[in-house]
This record gives sequence, structure tokens and C-alpha cells, in this order.
Amino acid sequence: MAIRGALALRKRQVLILFVLLGLSQAGPESVCYSVAEETEIGSFVGNLARDLGLGVEELSSREARVVSDDNKKHLHLDLPTGDFSTEPCVLHFQVVLENPLQFFRAEKILIQISESTTIGTTFLMESAQDLDIGRNSLQNYTVSPNSHFYIKIRDSSDGKIYPELVLDRELDHEHEPELRLTLTALDGGSPPRSGKTLVLIKVLDVNDNAPEFPQRLYEVQVLEDTPIGSWIITISAKDLDAGNYGKISYTFLDIWKTFEIHPISGEVHLKALLDFELTQSYTINIQAIDGGSLLGKSTILVRVVDVNDNPPEIVMTSLTSPIPENSSPEMVVAVFSVRDQDSGDNGRMICSIQDNLPFVLKPTFKNFYTLVTERPLDRESRAEYNITITVTDMGTPRLKTQHNITVLVSDVNDNAPAFTQTSYTLWVRENNSPALHIGSVSATDRDAGANAQLTYSLLPPQDPHLPLASLVSINADNGHLFALRSLDYEALQAFEFGVGATDRGSPALSSQARVRVLVLDANDNSPFVLYPLQNGSAPPAPSWCPGRPRRATW
Ligand SMILES: *[C@@H]1O[C@H](CO)[C@@H](O)[C@H](O)[C@H]1NC(C)=O
Ligand SMILES: *[C@@H]1O[C@H](CO)[C@@H](O)[C@H](O)[C@H]1NC(C)=O
Ligand SMILES: *[C@@H]1O[C@H](CO)[C@@H](O)[C@H](O)[C@H]1NC(C)=O
Ligand SMILES: *[C@@H]1O[C@H](CO)[C@@H](O)[C@H](O)[C@H]1NC(C)=O
Repeated sequence: MAIRGALALRKRQVLILFVLLGLSQAGPESVCYSVAEETEIGSFVGNLARDLGLGVEELSSREARVVSDDNKKHLHLDLPTGDFSTEPCVLHFQVVLENPLQFFRAEKILIQISESTTIGTTFLMESAQDLDIGRNSLQNYTVSPNSHFYIKIRDSSDGKIYPELVLDRELDHEHEPELRLTLTALDGGSPPRSGKTLVLIKVLDVNDNAPEFPQRLYEVQVLEDTPIGSWIITISAKDLDAGNYGKISYTFLDIWKTFEIHPISGEVHLKALLDFELTQSYTINIQAIDGGSLLGKSTILVRVVDVNDNPPEIVMTSLTSPIPENSSPEMVVAVFSVRDQDSGDNGRMICSIQDNLPFVLKPTFKNFYTLVTERPLDRESRAEYNITITVTDMGTPRLKTQHNITVLVSDVNDNAPAFTQTSYTLWVRENNSPALHIGSVSATDRDAGANAQLTYSLLPPQDPHLPLASLVSINADNGHLFALRSLDYEALQAFEFGVGATDRGSPALSSQARVRVLVLDANDNSPFVLYPLQNGSAPPAPSWCPGRPRRATW
């Protein structure tokens, strides 16, 4: 009773820790540590290396770790030194009962075993050296039939027996994450009493599977006018590991400003606008990384699909204007190039000008065109051409660009002056005052500028005796004719001369017209007796028909 009471007291104050190690057959016994309740965090509990008689190197190399029932880390094992200390939280450990059989009946044993543990590894099940187990009471242990473990009984030097679980077949967390075995202890009594306890074996995942993409290459086509934020593709890798080792996050191997990937969902979205004219395709290396830093790699090939987003362009290289009329055909008026930054049909162009113009477009090398005359031009019929060059691409929708040029036709002196009449008749009453404006001649010239500026002149008379220069004069600029002196019908009834109009072209062109001046009679002579002759001399010549032209004679 005294012992029982002491034990009960101890049970309240002390927690006894079970240390389970995956030790080989040759390994030492279990070690028991006691820690008072509400011990400060970081308190020293014990030195595992010293207590197990192992070197600290061995602890490290054999990956010693603390395992507890509820998966919480209450104890910290400092591998370089082998020191144990408490982790920051409240401890929940199995309480060991006084009676060994009740201990098994009441409790379950949790063992966490890595799936990579090699066959033949043994797990010591008993410890509790402070348990007062009757030396002869425990005789045998058995484990429920299973395909991974068998029981091996170990005798210790003090005569106690210990059950050891021996791994017989490889564990696989992905296939069987935990196993439940029943451990039965038999005593040597008669009849034998037995106690059972559940052994829960948690198979710990090791990161034995790297993430894997189903495809080495993902190919996707994206229109170049796809808006920012659009979904492009979702990639997905598989990792056969469970838990954190099977958690995948996706990243690009390189930094992209055009694309972004969601680390969890694997969705790739557009982060910036595409431009087929700048980049036709992107090769994006992606990786999937699991919680244990194993990698899987793949590649996304994004092909940018051209959209007809660029209208054709016209670049004028040269323009000759004005061009002289009458020039020979195929005279080059303009040289220009066209281009369209799109590709395929979106960049294929046709180039045209209006119909019914005396010009034609000629393709020259590459995408250069010349605009040439089709035939000689005539400024007098058309002096200005507004030419619209239209370039259309073959994309959908069709885009077109127009460029207007004005071609002027310059004058060549190809038209002679023309008089309004081939001959002019002017009447002048005799006895006129000198410098009388007796009439005008007029000519026109279809040319322009100096080629149409006319100078009028009197032509030398056919009759060399006619004193034309003293009879009439002409205004060289406007063709006005003036009688220079008073005419006397009785002396001169009519006369005729030529006028010329000459332009200022080079060479100059001219033409002629005839002018006839008729002198009208006035009653400026008194009658006189013809017969009988008063003094016997002949009378002056009579005028028979005033106004009727007669060749002047004198
Ligand atoms: C323990 O039990 C097993 C299985 O029942 C049996 O094969 C074995 O002989 C027993 N060992 C002893 C010492 O009784
Ligand atoms: C050409 O265009 C100009 C300016 O647009 C206009 O003033 C002119 O009348 C046009 N000429 C012809 C022959 O259409
Ligand atoms: C070119 O001329 C056409 C016809 O006169 C007119 O409709 C068009 O607007 C002009 N284009 C440009 C770019 O000036
Ligand atoms: C005769 O008459 C004419 C005309 O009147 C005159 O000119 C002439 O001198 C006269 N002759 C004589 C001889 O008188």
C-alpha cells in the first residue's frame, strides 16, 4: 500500500517519457526520463547520447528524432550535443500504470516509422524499468497477424523479456499510411492471463516522389490582341507523396513581365499586352516544387497569333511636281514604298490609284512603287491632278491607308497666239483728229505665263509706197490702233496692212491678221463749174461712190 501510494503520488507529479528508437538488435535498452509538470520551456531533460551510450555522431547519422503520440513536438533534440529540452507547449504523454498488464490494456502505443525504413529494422516495445513487473509473470508476447511486422522476444541480462517489432516488408505511406496491430502479453500464470494493447504504426511519408508534369511541352496559341489578365493555360503536375511532400507550388524558371503563374492553381495569365510584331513566341520554363524541394520541370510554348492591327503605311520617297506637259510617257512622277507590319494576309497589300488618270503605278523592287505618266500630258486641258494612292491589306478586317498627292503640269509654249478674227475692217471718217483710236485687234494664247503674254505689231505693208508708219500705230500691249494724222478721203479712200501677235515664249510663236481701213467721205469741198472751163485746166478727179472700198492710188 505504501508503495502504491508512493506511486500514485509520483503519477501526479511526474510524467514518464517513452523513448522509442529504431535501433538494431544490438542496440541498448530504453531510457526513461522524468520531467516535472509545468517545467519551463527550454529546460534540460537529459542527454540521450550519454544515456544510450551512443556517440553524438551516431545520433545524427541515424537521424534520431523525438516522436510523440499527438504529433506535437514537445521535446527538442539538439543533435550536435544530444541534449534534450522541452518544446514550447503542454505535454501529453502516455502515463505508465503500475500493473504491466493494465498498462497494455489501457493504452495504445504509437510508433512512427518512416516509409524508407529498411527491412529487418527492429523497434523495441518495452521499457519502463521502473515498472514493477513480476519476473515470472510475463512469458510471451504475440502480435496480431499482419504482413509487415513480426515479434521477436529479447531477453535481457536481468531476465526480463522484451518484445521487439521487426519490419518484414517495406512500408509505403502512399499505399498504407497507418497500421493497427494488437500486441498481446501472456503471463505464466495458470490459467495464463493476457493483456492486449493496440499498436498504432504511423507510416511517415518520405519525399520519395518528385512532382511530375504529364507533358514535357505545353503548346498554346494566343491572339495578340488578348486583353491583360486573360487566362492562357493551366498546368498541373502530380506528386505521389502525401502531405507536405505532395504539396506542389508552381513557378517560372525565368522572370517574365508578360505572364504570371498562380503558384497553387497553376493557372497562367497574361500580365502585359502581346505584340506579334515584336515577339512571335515565348518559351516559358516552368517548375513544380514540392514541400520537400523536389522538382519537376516542363515548358510552355506560347505562340502569338497575328491580328490585323497595323494598317499599311506609305512612305513617299520622291515627288516631282510640276511636270512639263508634252513629256514623253513613263516619266517618273513619284517614288514611294509601302509596308504593313502584320504578317501573312494581314500584311499582304494591294496598291492602287483612281481610274481614268493618265498615270500608272509600277511595282519596282521589293515594296517600292513608281508613279509614271501613261501618255504626254496637256496642260491646256488639265493642269492639276489630285492623285489618291490607296494601299489595302488582305487581312480581316481589311485596313487601308490613303495618301494624296497633287501633280501640277507646267506649261510649254505649244500654242501660238490666235487673233479673234482673221481680218478686221475699220472705218475712219476723213479729217479725223490725229491720234484717234480707230479700232483694235485682239489675239489670245492658250499657254500660260510668258508663253501667253502677247506683243502686237504692225507688219511691213505689201505696198512699199504706203507710208504706213505715218498713218497708223498699234499699242503693242493691247492691240489698239490709232490714226496718226488726219485722213483725206479725197486723197486716200482705203488702205490695208497686216498685224502680228507674238508671245514671249522661247521660242516665241506668232500669228498674223489683216486690217483694212476705209476712209469715209465728209462734205469738205465746194462745188465748182466743170464746163465751160473757167481757165481751161482740168478739174480734180471726182469721187463716185463714197464708202465703197477702192484700192488707194496715189
Ligand atoms: C510465444 O508464442 C509464440 C506464438 O504463440 C510461440 O510460437 C512461442 O513458442 C512462444 N514462446 C514461448 C517462450 O512460450
Ligand atoms: C485638288 O485638291 C485641292 C485641295 O484639296 C483642291 O483645291 C483642288 O480643287 C483639287 N483639284 C482637282 C483638279 O480636283
Ligand atoms: C484624299 O483625297 C480624297 C478625295 O479628295 C479625300 O476624300 C481624302 O480625305 C483625302 N485623304 C487625305 C488623307 O487627305
Ligand atoms: C484756171 O482755173 C484753175 C482752177 O480754178 C486754177 O487753178 C488755174 O490757175 C486757172 N488758170 C488760169 C490760167 O487762170
